[in-house]
Amino acid sequence: MRSLQALSYYFGEEHRGSFATLDIVVSNTMTDAIELLSTRKSVKAVELKAPGPSAGEVDKLLTIACRVPDHGKLTPWRFIVFEGDARIAAGAAIVAVVSRAAPHGKIPEWEQVLSAGAAAMNLVLAAHALGYGANWITGWYAYDRGVLDALGLASHERIAGFIHIGTSSGSAQDRPRPPLSEIATRFSA
Ligand SMILES: Cc1cc2nc3c(=O)[nH]c(=O)nc-3n(C[C@H](O)[C@H](O)[C@H](O)COP(=O)(O)O)c2cc1C
Repeated sequence: MRSLQALSYYFGEEHRGSFATLDIVVSNTMTDAIELLSTRKSVKAVELKAPGPSAGEVDKLLTIACRVPDHGKLTPWRFIVFEGDARIAAGAAIVAVVSRAAPHGKIPEWEQVLSAGAAAMNLVLAAHALGYGANWITGWYAYDRGVLDALGLASHERIAGFIHIGTSSGSAQDRPRPPLSEIATRFSA
């Protein structure tokens, strides 16, 4: 409501009604975002079927995946979108998130790897936001040099994950989430 007061102050009380509507729209959007984040769960790759995201939607997903914290602005990740026969017959899209983390004078490699994980997570969440199911998996092929060579990965690059995105054909079960009492502590000096 502080923003509503400020807008009314600057633009005049007669516009207060319009800004009130705007405020409701904004707060609804935030509620939707919280709902989205609270409900995400994986759908097993084998349960992901057509339709998967269109080419345009894949571009949108990748654009969102890029909006992650990136210490030093190194872009320490890239994407490989599987197309044609490489896109599994079932119709789900697959995107490999590749970590390009490498030794750097100032930015620890660990932080670069974390940024790749964040990009993968953004991709999963954006897929959920578009109404698709997604699964972040690796599997043996993520660690097989022959596969990595075939995909064109340099020796320092690693697969952060293969993100499968499609329409859920089952009723994906959620799993228990860790109780905060077990994984969150408070520190106060
Ligand atoms: C880096 C990474 C690799 C993963 N690889 C696999 C995998 O190969 N196979 C698998 O079943 N789950 C894998 N998972 C776990 C799934 O993505 C998923 O988190 C898990 O099935 C739990 O479901 P949830 O996402 O609903 O919590 C991986 C997760 C991460 C972060």
